Amino acid sequence: MAIEAIRFGIIGSGYMLKAHSLALRNIEGFLWPNAPRIQMMRVVDINTRAAEEAAKRWGWREWATDPEAITRADDIDVVIIITPNGAHAEAAVDALKHGKHVLCEKPLADTVKAAERMVEAAAEAGKANVVNFGYRTWPAIELAKKLIADGEIGDIVHFQGHYFQDYARDPKMPFSWRFDRSVAGAGAFGDIGSHIMDIAVALVGPVWRISAKTRRIFARRPVTESGQIVTVDDMTCTLVEFANGAVGSVHASWAATGHKCDLGFTVIGTKGSIKFTWERSNELHFFSDKDAAEIGGFRRIVIGGIHPEAAPFWFAQGQGLGYGEAFVIILRRLIDAITTGKPSTSPNFAEALHVNRIVEAALRAAESGNWENV
Ligand SMILES: NC(=O)c1ccc[n+]([C@@H]2O[C@H](COP(=O)([O-])OP(=O)(O)OC[C@H]3O[C@@H](n4cnc5c(N)ncnc54)[C@H](O)[C@@H]3O)[C@@H](O)[C@H]2O)c1
Repeated sequence: MAIEAIRFGIIGSGYMLKAHSLALRNIEGFLWPNAPRIQMMRVVDINTRAAEEAAKRWGWREWATDPEAITRADDIDVVIIITPNGAHAEAAVDALKHGKHVLCEKPLADTVKAAERMVEAAAEAGKANVVNFGYRTWPAIELAKKLIADGEIGDIVHFQGHYFQDYARDPKMPFSWRFDRSVAGAGAFGDIGSHIMDIAVALVGPVWRISAKTRRIFARRPVTESGQIVTVDDMTCTLVEFANGAVGSVHASWAATGHKCDLGFTVIGTKGSIKFTWERSNELHFFSDKDAAEIGGFRRIVIGGIHPEAAPFWFAQGQGLGYGEAFVIILRRLIDAITTGKPSTSPNFAEALHVNRIVEAALRAAESGNWENV
């Protein structure tokens, strides 16, 4: 029987609330007439004022301060988790145990142990479990994946990827949970490195082992006069060996001066190569050795409605999609998982656990100075 309506609750009302609310408010229109009615029931935040403002501003019917007001509520079908990383597991496991579908922000959890509990709970519940690795489902990256699957670049020999931002390059940026390893699990490498690692795995395959060097650029961040001690990396550089023999390097920093949202990579194959950066997110560069040598070179493919993930948006090619649409794409995957009864639609908890394992192995490698198996 077709599902007529899906009732959502969301836990957390910080930066991510805007993006998820925007997607929820608009997806019915984009998927018309095939979308169930979307009902934005309740927002929870431990900060009452934040929850109230979020509800009023973004159109949630009610607000509350206890996550159980969502994870255990009879009038909720899906729980979206957008709390700090250390609070993902408790909410997700409780929601799954109470028969809810879950959409969880990345990284899946602060630790591998917590991520494993989430994967187990999802398998037991048989409910949709989607992770917001929303760069991987981006139309240009999906096209890269298709080119690779179709054999257009031959065997992959190398992946070089990075995610550089500079939002934390100011040493006066106040201390927050992101700088506390006991809540975040890792610093720049868990926060944004997890996105580029997720893409590396989606394009090349699982990672076998990793070596790493981390750098804490700012030891303290202001909260009190003496400052609070930072316990995470501001920058991590890794060498990576994939299970299929490809080798690569993946670096991440949130203090990379001048780089705004520079999630970029090159994949080198025996017959071709692919290049991408999010700062030009509607373009994919592709080199094929099938081209005649005298006109050979990277071609610039402009993304638009002809590419499947971009189809619901703008008909004309090249008008451009952005960060907001990435959340609509993920939400569509979640709705597909629920309506088609395919709970492990990608990106799912099990895939995200592998990324958690890579991040933890990188931190271990940085401490031991050795290669560490994932
Ligand atoms: N996919 C992306 O592009 C992207 C971008 C930014 C952040 N994120 C992820 O989203 C999550 C949230 O990040 P953010 O930037 O919105 O954080 P934030 O600090 O802006 O907001 C977190 C909110 O959660 C609330 N909170 C904390 N603990 C809670 C608990 N136990 N129960 C209920 N509410 C609680 C806080 O009061 C705060 O309002 C993180 O996991 C982060 O990694 C993803």
